[in-house]
Amino acid sequence: MLEIGTRSGGSALLMLRVLADVYRRPARPPLVITVDPYGSRPYEGASYRYDETHYGAMKRALARYPNHIHYMMDSALFLRELDRLYLWIEGVERPLERFTLVYLDGSHDPDIVWHEIEQLRSRVVPGGFLIVDDTDWFGGEVRHRLDAAAARGGGGGGGSKIEFGETIERFAGHLLLRPYGLVGIRGDCDFLLWQVAEDLDSLVALQTALNRTDLGAYLTLPYSYLAMTRRSIYEFPEASSQPSRLVIRPSDARYLFVYPFTKTRPWYMLPRPERQVMMDEHVRIGRKYPSIRLNTTYSYGLDDQEFIVAFEGDNPADFLDLVMELRESKASSYTLRDTPTFTCVQMSLWDLLDTLGGAGAAQAISRRPARADGYTPVATLADLPPGASRRVYAAGEAVALFNVNGTVYAIANRCTHARASLSEGAVDPERCVVTCPWHEGVFSLETGQVLGGPPSLPVAAYRVKLEGDTVLIAPAEAREPTVVPFPLPRP
Ligand code: FES
Repeated sequence: MLEIGTRSGGSALLMLRVLADVYRRPARPPLVITVDPYGSRPYEGASYRYDETHYGAMKRALARYPNHIHYMMDSALFLRELDRLYLWIEGVERPLERFTLVYLDGSHDPDIVWHEIEQLRSRVVPGGFLIVDDTDWFGGEVRHRLDAAAARGGGGGGGSKIEFGETIERFAGHLLLRPYGLVGIRGDCDFLLWQVAEDLDSLVALQTALNRTDLGAYLTLPYSYLAMTRRSIYEFPEASSQPSRLVIRPSDARYLFVYPFTKTRPWYMLPRPERQVMMDEHVRIGRKYPSIRLNTTYSYGLDDQEFIVAFEGDNPADFLDLVMELRESKASSYTLRDTPTFTCVQMSLWDLLDTLGGAGAAQAISRRPARADGYTPVATLADLPPGASRRVYAAGEAVALFNVNGTVYAIANRCTHARASLSEGAVDPERCVVTCPWHEGVFSLETGQVLGGPPSLPVAAYRVKLEGDTVLIAPAEAREPTVVPFPLPRP
């Protein structure tokens, strides 16, 4: 348990009683860490001065408690040092990573309290508590911020999904990331995240950040496959439909079929020309199915399998036929392992997170109430600089915002063809259109009309207005209140 802003230790004792009630007879008394900056003015604007009287009272209150550590430092310094603090428990060095209960004194400068909340919320174990008291100080600003965060979270996990999704989005510039859903398809995992990076450090950094999210604490990683691109040792005539083997560029295909693959050792004993003949047959069969695109990557020595094979296509039946035919090829008899197989559905990150159940990420964000004039604040210009686009939510709908040379446009985010996320599409500022990232449907940003490609139905266009730095949108069907002149003009 961690308490910041301890003063005389009364709250710590109270929390110990709560822990004793919740956990009944714990094997060992929980560790209690208290933090307060004895001897200096604690926080700018604090409602009290922490001095020797408080310190003495705290020491007396917790004196008989055997598992208590007090840090005399302000919270900013403590939080900075937290990653470097270790405990020795039964001869083992353990980092101070997670707490069952975090108790914060809310009667300080709201920015400091909010910093404490943000730094510590991901360190509370699943099912644990973060409690902030005295939130009415400073005009109740901390309480207002907590209320807003709770509304955004919506309960039931919506906020956790948003945090998880935003963490993935933050890495979008460092790695190529493709989310694929597996809910309803496989029983042992819910989604696949295809990550393409130039170095291993980026993969480590992403997974570390995801582990630190609230949702990350509930996830397991049943499968993880590592592989690299390299030139094949076999000679294949170039096929324009197949990608370069040295660069991974996922296509916009609806499905991804992935499995680890290992050859038998006798395969490697065969003379190279004999293997080349079998590989030629393999390739000949593959080319009978041009709708299926193949990515082969190599894992020798890096991971348990020898290859990771990822096929992309829009039709699972084509892939099924291809694999059945490949089973009859000669090379197939030298396959040692080609399972498990993952049939993955490409979808936007937010749709994928909503397949996990709980409150919808979209619903959670859309709890922001619309105003009396029908407009809903959805973003600030700082979030949407010229040339940028982003997805927001209003009244439960995903909306794509675009800043085209300083003018903001809003249209429904789901492409009417196959529901791709239009906020991820390419914008042509000259024509004021967006091209859908999946099959090149083209939509007008001004009207939502289809201007090209496979979609046949338009998307809704929203009205947009700015109030200072705030972007507000209203549904297309909403009308400005009509101001009727008085006296009424004669017909
Ligand atoms: S999803 Fe096919 S054009 Fe948009």
